[in-house]
Formats: sequence, structure tokens, C-alpha cells
Amino acid sequence: MQAFNFSTTAHLICASGAAAQLAEHCAARGARNVLLVTDAGILRHNLLDSVLPGFDAADINLQVYSDVLADPAEELVLAATAQARAMGADLIVGFGGGSSMDTAKLVAYLAAPGQRQGLADIYGVNQANGARLPLIQVPTTAGTGSEVTPISIVTTATGKSGVVSSQLLPDLAILDAQLTVGLPGPVTAATGIDAMVHAIEAYTSKVRKNPISDLLAREALRLLSTHLETAVRDPQNLEARQAMLLGACLAGQAFANAPVAAVHALAYPLGITFHLPHGLSNALVLHQVLAFNLSHARDLYAELAPCVLGERLLPGDGAAQFIAELQRLHAAVDLPLRLRDAGVTQESLPELARSAMQQQRLLVNNPREVAEADALAIYRAAY
Ligand SMILES: NC(=O)c1ccc[n+]([C@@H]2O[C@H](COP(=O)([O-])OP(=O)(O)OC[C@H]3O[C@@H](n4cnc5c(N)ncnc54)[C@H](O)[C@@H]3O)[C@@H](O)[C@H]2O)c1
Ligand SMILES: [Fe+2]
Repeated sequence: MQAFNFSTTAHLICASGAAAQLAEHCAARGARNVLLVTDAGILRHNLLDSVLPGFDAADINLQVYSDVLADPAEELVLAATAQARAMGADLIVGFGGGSSMDTAKLVAYLAAPGQRQGLADIYGVNQANGARLPLIQVPTTAGTGSEVTPISIVTTATGKSGVVSSQLLPDLAILDAQLTVGLPGPVTAATGIDAMVHAIEAYTSKVRKNPISDLLAREALRLLSTHLETAVRDPQNLEARQAMLLGACLAGQAFANAPVAAVHALAYPLGITFHLPHGLSNALVLHQVLAFNLSHARDLYAELAPCVLGERLLPGDGAAQFIAELQRLHAAVDLPLRLRDAGVTQESLPELARSAMQQQRLLVNNPREVAEADALAIYRAAY
């Protein structure tokens, strides 16, 4: 067996309603001054209502930074860090989708007392190696898995950059389906497909594929493919919502240890250039990347086919049925199917392909090597 290592968030709570005890979890960690990092949409949907009273009861000073925007920019991370320092925060909570949780991770690191590194010093892999403040994550989308990954993605002047370091792995993640019942259909669909892509790309990851990630990826795909359509059509269905949160979390654990590849590499330039949600960018190139990879990953895709098809899997070409089922799901959840339907212009495709080549951190994990001409052909096929 090939040697591997695996790490994840130390403590998980998976229970509908569990976020109401957030303040108690902060108190149990000795916190007196907590900064909760979130976005305006979370406040608008009153998602903090069940959470805030506990902080008064526990006599914890709580401040809320609610200016996170999708695909957080450097300035935003620095502003949230300044607020944490000014209040003397001793614990950070990320509360929201991947954008809020990614921001919270960086704030917990950068606002740690005596921190000598700034944001510019920690881009890349294992550059952040100092201490951080205690960190609790409460996801409100079932998608990124950021609550269990050592990764934070920041939008810089030149594109998207990642900070990858085990120092960013949170201490506790609370998966509470009640927070996700108001998630709009298109966000449920896009973030759910993002999570499925995490599982698929972890399972075929060329560099760090390992038996634990494999197990997690298969169960994640089973949960996500079984419950995605229900979560979109019947948003109040708590069972489907809790299964989606768990599926996204398992997929996050899988790809945190067996990293994602070409689907994400080709999705990032779409997100940056056309401001498409991260999950939608992934969905738009998924089938074409899988078709491109088929010659090198046929057996692995065939192994995943039972996870998404269950008893509907027919004898014969499992890999082809796997790709077809993902295409069916994409159409069934009412997301745009082609790049042109999502506002992407044909003239932009060569520049997108050039930009995707910058994502070598991800492309090295792909089962098949991707050259710029290949990326362009994939975008053209997806157009
Ligand atoms: N750290 C990682 O490992 C990792 C992995 C994948 C993606 N990402 C990053 O995560 C970000 C995307 O995160 P995301 O897809 O979760 O979306 P997001 O955090 O950008 O949120 C999208 C929108 O959904 C709204 N929303 C969130 N939860 C809601 C709820 N329960 N009810 C109503 N509205 C709600 C938010 O207010 C926001 O307007 C990107 O920046 C991406 O680069 C990080
Ligand atoms: Fe993703």
C-alpha cells in the first residue's frame, strides 16, 4: 500500500438545531471575545437568530463582521482581521458558505497574538506555520466542505490564490440542517454539485489518492446524489438537508487529503471573469472534463457509478453511465447547462484556457495531463 497521511477537523457535530449551542461551545473553549465572520445574506435570512441569545447568556462579548462577499478579496480579509485585533478576539467563528468560512480561517490565523506573518506571506502550501486563534465553523451551504479543509481561497489582483496549511484546519464544525432550509434552489444545486465534484476529483486524484479519502468520497457521492434533487424541490426537507451537509463535509474531508484537479482548475477562471458562483462554474465544465479524462480514469469512474446510480446501474459500461447520470442530475436541478447559457462569451475562451494553465497546483492532480490546447477544447465543447 502506498504511504499516505490524513488529517481533518478534530470535532464534528452533525445534528439539526445544533447551532443554537454555539455560544456554549465557545465558552467551553474559554472564549471571552468572539468575532463571528459572515455575510449580509446570512443576516437577511435571520440565520443568527437562534445563535445570538446564547452569547448573552454565556456573558461572551460577541462582534459580527458581516461584510464578507462571494469569492472574498484580500482587502476584505484584512478588514475582518483588523476588527478581530481591535476587539482582542480570542476565538473566531465562520458562519456561512465557503466565502465566510474561508475568511474566518485566515482571520483566526492572522489575528493570533504575536502573529508575525501577513497575508502575502502565507499564499501557497504550508507557508502558514505559526499559531492561530481557536476556530469554529458553521456551514450554511452544503458545498465547499471548508469546515474540514486546510484551504482558504482568496481573490487577488491577479486571480484566485490559495492558502493551504494544516494550521487552517478548524477545531470544530457544526452541521445544522435547520440553517440550510432557506437556501435558494440555484444555490442548493450549485453548491451540491461543487461537493460532488470534490468527491469525484478526490477519488481520481493522481497525487495523494488514499484509502480513507476513497471511502469518504464514495459515501459522499451516495448521499449527495440521493438527496440533491429533493433538497432543491423540497427545500424544507430536513432529512435531505442534513444528508447534503454531511455529504459535503465528507467530500471536503476526502479532497482535503486527495486534492481536486482539472474541473476546479477550469472552473476558477470562469468564476473570476464572469462572476459565476463557484459550484455553477464547476458544473458547467464537469462533463467535458470527465469525458477528456475517460481514457485515463475509466476504471475509477466505473467504481463510482454504483454510488450515484445504486440499483439503476445496468450491466455494461459503468463509466459512461456515471458521466450520463451526472449530466442528468445537472439538468434536473435547473442550472444553466452550457457556458453560453451562463453569459460566457465565445471570444473569451482562449483567455480562459490561458488562465486555467495558471492553476498548476490543481492540474498536477488530474488523472490526465491537460495542455492549454486541451483546456481550450474543453471550454469549446462546454460552450
Ligand atoms: N476552502 C475550501 O476548501 C473551498 C472549497 C471550495 C470552494 N471554496 C470557496 O468558497 C466560496 C464559495 O462558497 P459557497 O459556494 O458556499 O458560497 P458563498 O459563501 O459565496 O455564499 C453564496 C451566497 O449564498 C448565501 N447563503 C449562504 N447560506 C445561505 C442560507 N443558508 N440561506 C440563504 N442564503 C445563504 C450567501 O449569503 C451568499 O449570498 C468561494 O470563494 C470558493 O473559492 C473554498
Ligand atoms: Fe469546489
